[in-house]
Amino acid sequence: MKKILITSALPYVNNVPHLGNCVCVISADVYSRYQRSKGEEVIYVLGTDEHGTTTETRALKEGLTPKQICDKYAKIHHDIYKWFDCEPDCWGRSSSKENATQTVDIFKKLEKNGYILEKELSQAYCEKCKKFLSDRYILGECPFCGYGGARGDQCEKCGKLLDPEQLVKPKCNICGAKPIFKTTKHLFMDLPKIEPKLRKWIKKEEAKWSTNAKTLTQGWLKEGLRPRCITRDLKWGIQVPFKGYEDKVFYSWFDAPIGYIGITRENKKDWKDWWYSPKDTELVQFMGKDNIPFHTILFPSFLIGTGENYTLLNKISVNEYLNYEGGMFSKSKHVGVFGDDAMESGISADVFRYYIMVNRPEKQDTEFAWEDFTDKNNHELVGNFGNLVNRTLSFISRFKGGVVPKGKLNDKFIKEWKEYIKRITDALDKIELKKALREIMELSKLGNKFFQDSEPWKTLKENPEVADTALFLLANLVKDLAILMSPFLPKTADSINNQLNIKQSKWKDLGILSIKAGHKINEPKILFAKIDTKQLAEFKSKYSGGKEEEIHPLSKINLKVAEILIVEPHPDADKLYVMQIDIGKEKRQLVAGLRNYYKAEELKGKHIVIVSNLQPVKLRGKESQGMLLAAVKDDKVTIVEAPLSAPGSPVTAEGISQGDSQITYKEFKETKLTVRGKRIVSKETGALRTNKETLKVNMPDGASVE
Ligand code: MF3
Ligand code: ZN
Repeated sequence: MKKILITSALPYVNNVPHLGNCVCVISADVYSRYQRSKGEEVIYVLGTDEHGTTTETRALKEGLTPKQICDKYAKIHHDIYKWFDCEPDCWGRSSSKENATQTVDIFKKLEKNGYILEKELSQAYCEKCKKFLSDRYILGECPFCGYGGARGDQCEKCGKLLDPEQLVKPKCNICGAKPIFKTTKHLFMDLPKIEPKLRKWIKKEEAKWSTNAKTLTQGWLKEGLRPRCITRDLKWGIQVPFKGYEDKVFYSWFDAPIGYIGITRENKKDWKDWWYSPKDTELVQFMGKDNIPFHTILFPSFLIGTGENYTLLNKISVNEYLNYEGGMFSKSKHVGVFGDDAMESGISADVFRYYIMVNRPEKQDTEFAWEDFTDKNNHELVGNFGNLVNRTLSFISRFKGGVVPKGKLNDKFIKEWKEYIKRITDALDKIELKKALREIMELSKLGNKFFQDSEPWKTLKENPEVADTALFLLANLVKDLAILMSPFLPKTADSINNQLNIKQSKWKDLGILSIKAGHKINEPKILFAKIDTKQLAEFKSKYSGGKEEEIHPLSKINLKVAEILIVEPHPDADKLYVMQIDIGKEKRQLVAGLRNYYKAEELKGKHIVIVSNLQPVKLRGKESQGMLLAAVKDDKVTIVEAPLSAPGSPVTAEGISQGDSQITYKEFKETKLTVRGKRIVSKETGALRTNKETLKVNMPDGASVE
């Protein structure tokens, strides 16, 4: 029998985790509990990922040292996972001294084996903040589209990937000063050099991986591996034992995965039996989609490069994202349910575990929605599962004095029941947790149907054998349901076992009628409570950032009708026009990329719609004071017109006010304007209109308006 070593991606320490962050941790816990129930030797490793810029930034914000931040939040994480009944065998922190030892050890071996390169980089440095700036910390003008708020790694407006040195007028995002570029040395993992060994290993293993893991990994390999920088100019991190690197630390993606080993080392004397034991140990890693290459390429490269006999990834379980009510979780805006909210909600951890697992984003993103949550609680947990357990045990208690009666066998029912056990076990073996849970609920439905068909309330008197058989078999089915549910809903399983007056059973006890006639059960108890409409309304408003007063993104925007007066080609860009427009009280200049779609004469005189409060930008040297609306689909572009309305007329949707302060392009994008039935709508609003007309544009449904 192989030992099973299970890891969950180590959550970043610098925040309170929300339900979406918990998907991975709970998944790994469910799988660990399942394997333990099967009698396997299991270690589940969990802890916090503590190094990196984000921790330093959070420390600045809260006025604490990075160490204090980590101490504070590591405890919050720990308490939350404990509340969710996650039971890792090893809990620890990537900033532990054991992990530093492990990281340095691996680094030294990589260096000895020639996998570490040193290279000079030119890097942005803010002399005011006395800090090297990571790419995301530099802002400037995009050299391609002129957008003013481009970041050092990417322009959000045109999507081009950038190097910080390409930015026009770069600024430090912390203090606004102009950064200088300094050359500095960094250490790199020589991925091209290890590539042949890595490929050999991937080829051998990838058949067992999920499709998304295979595809993403192959994508990386196809693009060609490049040396990967493993040091950073930060203070908070693991010291680099290399001359000239006194002011640098390891990159957090170097020491965080090594943290799995460090955390085991922190907790277990026999850690080597797990981590240097590829023949006897199966390594199963749970993570979110964005973590794949770090686990299939980087981490294995670090381990293979040591030349030592490390246990390497065998099975990978990747989840996509859990979103919140159609949007994103945001702690600062109080949107979504965070671990601490869950703990105070009055809802049990098992109900959250159920909902998260039955909605587990396995193949695509899913959503946490309170309506759906209530629905699943009321219909599935209360109506199906809880009902079966409670009606069976109550019946035995009320009409049989709490003693399980003698029953006969029912081959058809037992056969179906055993088929479910097989399907559920198969799904769990394949880490198809959602499927397994759904099948458990189907088995419970089968039990309810059997109860219904046996009509014990009638047959108890008229045909007691039928009633007794139902109660006898269903008591045993309830015992099995407790075993099957135990990985998912551990407290519920315990409660059922208590009510049944039996010890916790194991996976091997499934399908055996071990509760015999004459067995005395305990007082039944209700397992789950209904959520009523009043509670639902409370939850919805409490965790939705004060939805009532929420501002619609459209109400930040100021749209106006404008008349095009003059159209000229841009002297330095062959796609752009420079136009002079009239917006009623004032005239403005607009730059627009319409030369491939309209002739200058066609545009002149048209009444168009512009976003009048957009931050002005320079496009190839010409300032654009606003942006016109056009519908775009595939390669078709059609401008939005308001032929009947005077220049300066406001354009809005019903019930939406007009914005007056300046907005960014990103805020404009949040309106998500699209075409529906030739009209222009935003999320949950009616069509855009002026006081004279509803705007129309001759484009198909779904075209975006931008
Ligand atoms: N902290 C990372 C995240 O939340 C995951 C780190 S996984 C590890 O995305 F392997 F580095 F530990
Ligand atoms: Zn750009």
